[in-house]
Amino acid sequence: MWQTDVLWRTVDGTKWVYVKINIHSLRIQVLALLALTYLIVLSMAIYNAYDRRSHELAETLQVLESHAHQIAEAENQTVRYIQHLPLLISETNAFNRRPGSEDCHGVLENLVKNDTHMGNLMLVTPNGNVVCSANPIRGKLNVADRQYFKKALSSNELIVGEAITGRVSKRWVLPFALAVRDKSGHVQGVIEASLDLGWIENEFVRGKYPPDARIGLIDGKGTVLARYPDPENLIGRNISNIPFFTTLTSQRGTGTAEVSGYDNVQRVFAFSHFSDTADGPIYLWIGLSKKSVTAAADNQFTRGLLWLVALTAGTFVVAWFGGKRLVVHPINVIAGTANRLSEGDYQARTGMRYTKNELGDLARAVDDMAGALVSKSALLRLNRSLRVLIACNRVLVHAQTETQLLNDICRVIVENGGYRMAWIGIANDDEERTIKPLAVYGFEDHYLDNAKISWADTPSGQGVTGLAVRTGEAQVNFDFQNDPRLLPWRESAMRRGYRSSSAFPLMSATRAWGVLTVYSDKLDAFTDKEVELLADLAEDITFGIASLKTKNELADTRLDIIRRLMNAGEYRDSDTGSHIKRMSLYCEAIGRSMDLSPAQCELLLVASPMHDVGKIGIPDHILLKPGKLDPQEFEIIKRHPTIGADILSNPTSDLLRTAHDIALYHHEKWDGSGYPKGISGTDIPLMARIVAVADVYDALTTTRPYKRPWTEEQAHEEIIRLSGSHFDPDVVNAFIGCRAEILRIKAANPD
Ligand code: C2E
Ligand code: SIN
Ligand code: FE
Repeated sequence: MWQTDVLWRTVDGTKWVYVKINIHSLRIQVLALLALTYLIVLSMAIYNAYDRRSHELAETLQVLESHAHQIAEAENQTVRYIQHLPLLISETNAFNRRPGSEDCHGVLENLVKNDTHMGNLMLVTPNGNVVCSANPIRGKLNVADRQYFKKALSSNELIVGEAITGRVSKRWVLPFALAVRDKSGHVQGVIEASLDLGWIENEFVRGKYPPDARIGLIDGKGTVLARYPDPENLIGRNISNIPFFTTLTSQRGTGTAEVSGYDNVQRVFAFSHFSDTADGPIYLWIGLSKKSVTAAADNQFTRGLLWLVALTAGTFVVAWFGGKRLVVHPINVIAGTANRLSEGDYQARTGMRYTKNELGDLARAVDDMAGALVSKSALLRLNRSLRVLIACNRVLVHAQTETQLLNDICRVIVENGGYRMAWIGIANDDEERTIKPLAVYGFEDHYLDNAKISWADTPSGQGVTGLAVRTGEAQVNFDFQNDPRLLPWRESAMRRGYRSSSAFPLMSATRAWGVLTVYSDKLDAFTDKEVELLADLAEDITFGIASLKTKNELADTRLDIIRRLMNAGEYRDSDTGSHIKRMSLYCEAIGRSMDLSPAQCELLLVASPMHDVGKIGIPDHILLKPGKLDPQEFEIIKRHPTIGADILSNPTSDLLRTAHDIALYHHEKWDGSGYPKGISGTDIPLMARIVAVADVYDALTTTRPYKRPWTEEQAHEEIIRLSGSHFDPDVVNAFIGCRAEILRIKAANPD
């Protein structure tokens, strides 16, 4: 039932553990269905999470963008103001004031004080000395080293520098600068105004962005003007080559984007066109790592997923064990019952309660079927028993020899009774009380060679066979597997498919002389009826053997009487009778060599001794004359076939009819030159033609009152020489064919 499909394997220490699962099992299929359901739920959950994530992202981007705009818008006003500063300053004529004077400071302070986004405002001499500053300065200050200052000197327009911490304001600022020139283009001084980036920072902090968020300003060429926070120290560096910047410029510094930043982290950005300077546009951007935006949604999804997994696992466990109790176990019970039924165990029942569902119905159906099988099998067995009985009767009637009878009985029991093996043993009265097989039929496969069965009261005598002999009663073994008495034979029997057996004593007047043992490949195969039948059969065997003995004795006696009478009749003395016996055995041998039926051979054997019965009517002086007969004497001799035929006239049986023909025709010759009638060829009865060869061969090879014996070779040559004239060539051929048998008979029966 379990497949060898390897579905998964797990590592157990260093060993691979293969787990074999039958993918066709009901439970696995139910679980697969469940898994499918959960897969649908899971994909819905994933879709939901994805949807939520996108929403969250879109929402965040929207907020980010408006925030960026808001910041940019606020600062932009200041930038526009700064762009007008040179004009305002020239109006106040500040450059003509005395450097460091209160006057100068006052003018600048006035210009700055209305704009909260201004960092500072300074006037600087062409060599970098600060003339005056909106924020008060102490002592001298030189900014010649500043990037914005150098950039302003080499430009005619307002330039924007990179974010710095102002030396005067001490604040994080974005400096703007413009070189003021006279008519001939000589620099008179530099105006520096800075945008307070601390304000951006505050806004950013107010926005409660996560720690990985960034805000910054970048110019149109890709130079980082400001960045907060700036762990990579990017301010002043050009990053025009990173995807962030290309995306920003392709969107003209507005909108939102999802792109990787300087640290290759995927971020979502909002851009805002901050301001335009002489150098080109300045952009403001805010960036958040995508992870931090989707973190909430992701967390919720993970939690949901964990719940789902737990729920799935729980459902699977319930389905697995519940399925075992509610489905797999009942089905196994029903299947087991059906299996036992198919193996012939008709007592098998499910034993289940018939619940009101499909399984209950199935169990009831199997149990009903078992009931029906019992009655059907009873009928089949009866039918089978009848066949065994009829066949055994035939065997008992037709058996010729004891061996044949026993073998045929075993065969008939196995073939008609449907058993696996049957044997008949003789219970020897030796020291070990052995039981030796006389006949066996069926699948035996040397079982009896090694079985060492005895009828002694020892372990090897506790099997049904030994018990049947010892007790004189039938014995049944219902189950080889479980009957402890059968332990010595269990393994060997099971290997040959014997599942149960029974033994029946073969009784003489005083004790069991033998035993019949039958093996079935089914459990509990022997019902009371069957045991009764086989026990009757065992009785019939003893009876059959007895009657066979009687029949054979009768036949032997008859033959012996005939031979003795014929011998006395011919020789008038008490000869050993060897001639008559040899002759009849030669006839039987030739008959077999000619493939005559056993019945005809038997007739030859019994009838041929009477061939010379007519010699009773021949006077002694002729018959026993020690010399050659004269023609008149021979004429008298030639009457003996007719006299014999008279004696055997009006035959009342096959035997006498054959004896009559043999007596009358055994001196006829194949070419018609014989006597008494001179008939030829196949007009002479076959039996007489056979007797003619046997009679002459024996006459030639033995001593007669009138002749000395020929050698065997001479006699054999003579028979061959007379083939076709005196003898039927077919009979001579058959005689030649069985020469070995002829010689054996001759040697075994000397005069
Ligand atoms: P049997 O002695 O039983 O011989 C049977 C047949 O064997 C004879 O039939 C004959 O065909 C053959 N046979 C026996 N001896 C010889 C032999 O020496 N040479 C040859 N070629 N064939 C032999 P058959 O001749 O018709 O004789 C019938 C019966 O007559 C004999 O039975 C025997 O009882 C008697 N018989 C025949 N010839 C003589 C004889 O010369 N003297 C005596 N006393 N009896 C004879
Ligand atoms: C930058 O500051 O270089 C832009 C984006 C970032 O912070 O990754
Ligand atoms: Fe004769």
